[in-house]
Amino acid sequence: MKKRKDVYKLPAGDTTLQWYAKAVAEMKKRDSSDPTSWAYQGAIHGIPQNPDSSQYWKPYLPLPSRSSVKKYWENCQHQSWFFLPWHRMYLAYFEQIVAQTIRDLGGPNDWSLPFWNYSDGANPKALDIPLAFTSPANDSNNLWMPNRNNTIDQSTVTLKALKKINYTTNQNEIGYGGPETDFHHGGGTSGALESLPHNMVHVDISGAMGDPNTAGLDPIFWLHHANIDRLWQVWLNQGNRHSPTESTWTDFKFDFHDKDKNPVSISCESVEDTRTILAGYTYEGVVPELPKEEILLAAKARKMPQMPLEVVTATNEVHKLTGKKKIVTLSLNAPKNENIKRFKSTANLDSSNEGKKTMLRFENMKGKGLVPIHSVYINLPDKEGNPESYYAGALALFGLEQASTSSSHNSGSGLNEYLEITELMTDLQRLPNWSEDKMDIHIVPNRPMSKDATVSIGRISLYSE
Ligand code: C2O
Repeated sequence: MKKRKDVYKLPAGDTTLQWYAKAVAEMKKRDSSDPTSWAYQGAIHGIPQNPDSSQYWKPYLPLPSRSSVKKYWENCQHQSWFFLPWHRMYLAYFEQIVAQTIRDLGGPNDWSLPFWNYSDGANPKALDIPLAFTSPANDSNNLWMPNRNNTIDQSTVTLKALKKINYTTNQNEIGYGGPETDFHHGGGTSGALESLPHNMVHVDISGAMGDPNTAGLDPIFWLHHANIDRLWQVWLNQGNRHSPTESTWTDFKFDFHDKDKNPVSISCESVEDTRTILAGYTYEGVVPELPKEEILLAAKARKMPQMPLEVVTATNEVHKLTGKKKIVTLSLNAPKNENIKRFKSTANLDSSNEGKKTMLRFENMKGKGLVPIHSVYINLPDKEGNPESYYAGALALFGLEQASTSSSHNSGSGLNEYLEITELMTDLQRLPNWSEDKMDIHIVPNRPMSKDATVSIGRISLYSE
């Protein structure tokens, strides 16, 4: 059984990353039609429409014809309940291929993929991409990539997603693992873990990592995903939680190649226990526990009808983000509107009331280029006041361009982000600047936005019970 270790806790003199770099160099030499090549592994995740004009894909041209690899390339599952199992499978075969490459190069027999725990509050360097990936910062370093931000922001790594009880997103709530879908390459609404930290970390690193069609080419991708995969088990270990039990999830299969280049097809159910995937693996510091039979049985019995949240107010025009702070006002001034009346009747909540479930939705976000994370605040005052008290969440538009283009894989209707603001609303309604008539939504870029990037938001809306 393999143990995937914390990259920041590898002992002095450990050679895991040196061998990783050697394997990357070796895999880069292989022809891009070889399933064990660096290019092929990256393309399984995604590849741009015109790889010839991508600086990250250039070294791997020419590529095999699209039709010859159709079944295996561009398969990553996003904004879907398959996000976790698909990436787990992807990592397992990648790790097997890298480990075999290392053995063939005369390295150790037991290489395993380390994880990057950027949320480790006890590690002062946790937010930095590990040094071996950033220094030396040139092509002699096979773990280095150009155009990355080497330190990510603290706000991109919080783990509030772990509090989620449900795996699957429904009309009222973002689940931990994402919405129920068929094969789904992207577009729509991310699950809680996918949204934060997953998308946030991608977008904040930027460069190749900022786009699903190039992300698999960055060696740090795999350590980021080992951490996300670890967090699936960490979530389960809290108890009272389980992965989907529907056969549309458990029996769904995806296609990969193993280290011997043989095609394989595996189901989601077969990757629920990491100890039985290929040679099996566990994560340092995590003893896997699987959900108890009672929990699974109860889950099967429970199919509660959900009362959908209702729209309180919404924008009626498209808003563009241009790299500057944007303020969008949602009106609450419509005395005849029943939903607004009902919403306002819950204002001035007393402390015994947890508040009505409230969501701020950003829908049909479309655009192109690398867009930085945008923080969202409600009624943020000009000067005084701690912005934290007005913080609703953030928009990290990983996969924006692809989700905006209609193709065989996507509807082209863009990305959505649902920010759960129930608690924030209770707090805001107690502040002196609370207005009965409107809410100002402040959308602020965290880093400069490049000139060729564009984003439009189709609709911003407030939903409540
Ligand atoms: Cu399929 Cu981190 O992405």
